Amino acid sequence: MSERPRLASRERFLMRDALPGGLPFGEDIRLGLTSRPKSIPPRYFYDPLGSALFTAICELPEYTITRAETEILRGSAAAMARMFAAPARVVELGSGDSRKSSLLLEALLERQPALTYVPIDVDAGVLESSARELLASNPSLTIEAVCADFRDIAELLTPASGRTVALFLGSTIGNLDPPAAASLLRNIRRILARGDVLLLGADLRKPKEILEPAYNDALGVTAAFNLNLLTRINRELGGHFDVAKFAHRAFFNEEASRIEMHLASRERQSISIDALRLDVHFEAGETIHTENSYKYTDGDIDTLAREGGFDVQQRWRDAGMSFTDVLMVAR
Ligand code: SAH
Ligand code: TRP
Repeated sequence: MSERPRLASRERFLMRDALPGGLPFGEDIRLGLTSRPKSIPPRYFYDPLGSALFTAICELPEYTITRAETEILRGSAAAMARMFAAPARVVELGSGDSRKSSLLLEALLERQPALTYVPIDVDAGVLESSARELLASNPSLTIEAVCADFRDIAELLTPASGRTVALFLGSTIGNLDPPAAASLLRNIRRILARGDVLLLGADLRKPKEILEPAYNDALGVTAAFNLNLLTRINRELGGHFDVAKFAHRAFFNEEASRIEMHLASRERQSISIDALRLDVHFEAGETIHTENSYKYTDGDIDTLAREGGFDVQQRWRDAGMSFTDVLMVAR
């Protein structure tokens, strides 16, 4: 892993670039597109256009997750901040635009003179722009951003001397399958001291008539977000995908309790990817599996907490009972 520390703008903002060097994107694409079934790891959605499209998804009428979690945090940030007990740092996995977490950071800063925020995200651009906004409105905040894969959290951070609060919001936990989710919680646990807390946001299981429209919006923004993976392969790896020849598919898999997102080839075709010296063949209707979004019950979250080394302390829900934020304590 290459580490290139750099100091940007002022001293209150430090960004560490800990993404592996070389061509990991190309190697992951080669592996995914030569496997059966074909797949692409979801962290590659988030290039600058992908992050912008995700921000647009959060505003869609069909996509209720962001509004539901914002409602929970607006209503309970002050109570949560009291329970966090004056942490020295807040570490957030997949922080994105940090809009929801800023509610918690601001509630903490009303109670204590200083705080260090450690956002971890694969998109360096979103880390920089959200840090700039947070620093402008919060003069006593220090930001130590880490551009990295959050699954490496235990190698990236060490336990702190003061208290740590970990945040993992927006149901990003749902994008990992259950064994990977439990293993990520164990890795988060390793940078915490006993008694430190994790606030985890998860989307609750609902009938598929409610779940599916959130990932099949009428404007086609989610389709664009999904298809952007092919654009990224074209741009960064000299791919020759015609996005018009692929269709966005999203459906609820009841047995697995997950939304699955795929890109389906509209016809039989072969695509070359110059940088990989690779030709990829597709049958008509064949798909690339691009993401899962697992939907949780309270019981699923209890199991996850236990396997990760945490005890559930408190749960919040939005008024529509659609989403939950769960406070868990490191055992
Ligand atoms: N927490 C925000 C953003 C959620 S979108 C919210 O709730 O609205 C998921 C975010 O996680 C994106 O910003 C994406 O860039 C980041 N991300 C996805 N997979 C990641 C990974 N493996 N490592 C680090 N960041 C990741
Ligand atoms: N984790 C959130 C979810 O599963 C956000 C998200 C990730 C998302 N990838 C997405 C939303 C793709 C829509 C489409 O809902």
